[in-house]
Amino acid sequence: MHSAITGWGKFVPERILSNADLERMVETSDEWIVSRTGIRERRISAPDQPSSHLAIAAGRQALECAGLQASDLGLIIVCTVTGDYTFPATANLVQDGLGAHCPAFDLQAACAGWIYGLITAHQFIATGTARHVLVIGVEELSKIVDYTDRATCVLFGDGAGAAILSASEEPGILGFTMGSDGARPEQLYRPAGGSCIPITKDTVGTSATYVHMMGSEVFKFATRIMGSAMEEALVMAGLTRHDIDLFIPHQANLRIIEAAMKRLELPPEKVFVNLEKYGNTSSAAIPIALCEAIEQGRIQTGNRIGMVAFGGGLSWAAIAMRWTA
Ligand code: ACO
Repeated sequence: MHSAITGWGKFVPERILSNADLERMVETSDEWIVSRTGIRERRISAPDQPSSHLAIAAGRQALECAGLQASDLGLIIVCTVTGDYTFPATANLVQDGLGAHCPAFDLQAACAGWIYGLITAHQFIATGTARHVLVIGVEELSKIVDYTDRATCVLFGDGAGAAILSASEEPGILGFTMGSDGARPEQLYRPAGGSCIPITKDTVGTSATYVHMMGSEVFKFATRIMGSAMEEALVMAGLTRHDIDLFIPHQANLRIIEAAMKRLELPPEKVFVNLEKYGNTSSAAIPIALCEAIEQGRIQTGNRIGMVAFGGGLSWAAIAMRWTA
């Protein structure tokens, strides 16, 4: 059985944190942030607005778009590194919030999470185990970022994006790849909060509870992996880079996207970028960008879409698909 996207939705918190706001919080400038990253503003969730709230709102929209009820879902996958709790899974809360009765689990592959999730959903559909799978990418990185660390706090934002992958006569997902290199987790991680460095009275309030990143190392990895992962997915799909109608890359840094465009020889009109509005929303970035590309009429039936993400792990994933909706 083939699989194709039949519904999509997004939700971002109301509060905007602009570069001008950040200039008042840390020693930075709008000029530095825009020239190094392309980001102008990001959304920040309210203290009483956990990730599950964003995820449920995006999931509801995706169901409505697909013309489905929550009871039609065969599986829910929530991709996040900033779930409501260490456990239970945020997916359990989303299942209840939507009124679904299906199994639900979280998937953690940092910024590559949603592409990992979509590929996982494809396997459930290909084997006939599920007919409709809701895949949500949701993050509230604002809740684990240190707003005194200018090297990380300017980059990240909050949001949720969702898609429903359904069994289909026509092939939607054509090719994919996933990868992992766990040799250097400290390049991008949150040291405390797991079983390695548990939260104790000694760790509370220390920088160990925040995101740590070796920015230039991640930058080098990202510029290398974006193009090669996309190429691998295209080979599996039997396509070449010239067949791509729209490329939706992970929205982390405009310079990383430009490096991937160069490697894939893609002109700007074939690349979707919205990071100036949201910053890096990790696993939510690509599904939010997908929704906005559709809203802006950038995707037509029959188009071939390339999506590629990289992130902590280090991990990466890419999908080549044909738009059938
Ligand atoms: N404002 C002003 N100056 C800053 C800021 C800031 N916000 N942040 C860092 N600087 C300074 C640094 O301190 C450094 O100063 P120094 O030379 O006096 O030491 C200088 O700017 C240059 O710093 P670099 O780190 O070399 O800057 P670079 O050009 O590499 O850009 C950046 C930094 C934007 C973080 C880049 O490395 C990057 O985008 N890396 C990839 C990050 C990424 O994509 N992470 C997410 C992965 S996805 C996931 O899983 C969450």
